[in-house]
Amino acid sequence: EKGEPLRVMISGAPASGKGTQCELITKKYNLVHVAAGDLLRAEVAAGTENGKRAKEFMEMGKLVPIEIVAAMVKERLSQQDSQENGWLLDGYPRSESQATSLKKFGFVPDIFILLEVPEEILVERVVGRRLDPVTGKIYHLTYSPPETEEIAARLTQRFDDTEEKVKLRLLTHNSNVESVLSLYNDQIVKVDGTLPKEEVFSQIDRVLTELLAKKEAALGSL
Ligand code: AP5
Repeated sequence: EKGEPLRVMISGAPASGKGTQCELITKKYNLVHVAAGDLLRAEVAAGTENGKRAKEFMEMGKLVPIEIVAAMVKERLSQQDSQENGWLLDGYPRSESQATSLKKFGFVPDIFILLEVPEEILVERVVGRRLDPVTGKIYHLTYSPPETEEIAARLTQRFDDTEEKVKLRLLTHNSNVESVLSLYNDQIVKVDGTLPKEEVFSQIDRVLTELLAKKEAALGSL
């Protein structure tokens, strides 16, 4: 019998590897991946009013106003698949008000994973990042190159993936991170994000496996 589903938050500076780890985590644990940045980019691509407004902030590397982003995230977390399979929340919350509003709606994580990567590595990761529009997979020209010529030919780049923009995103991150972390003190697990992605994943995998075992044990003791 299965225990309660996992509820996971993952955080870290821009290009610390959140999206990459989320691909690996969802493949193994079948959690619903809810990424604030992806939800926003979908809104921008759809050309909605919220999307247009959001893009102005994203271009400046600033946080999109909470009234745009909070409802999107809560709605996705409330859906049946997230409730039944568990969720993996990526890039949210990024401010104290986002965190307190999530808590108020009852969305509390079992674990808060923090990917630690020093700033000098982040710029290189951003500038070399490419995305496959067909599969959604994240690549890096040096660290995670495309498997085939066909994929290489169709890769795209994000509009905020320049050296100049990532520095702005980093400033935003640095000015908000402490206030968010302090609200999840008991759930934080720090992971060295400078290791190769498979090694970063094996650290995360170990912690999640333990957590699931605890949940199953808790169920058995009822
Ligand atoms: P968002 O899309 O969340 O961007 P971000 O936080 O800057 O993070 P990234 O997606 O750039 O990086 P990542 O950590 O996922 O790294 P990845 O795995 O791709 O947000 C974008 C914007 O939306 C924000 O600026 C803001 O405006 C808005 N927004 C988002 N959330 C918001 C919120 N909560 N509130 C308000 N506004 C919000 O990896 C990066 C590269 O490195 C890849 O090329 C990858 O292949 C490579 N790589 C990954 N891991 C490794 C490794 N271990 N070794 C070597 N290379 C690696």
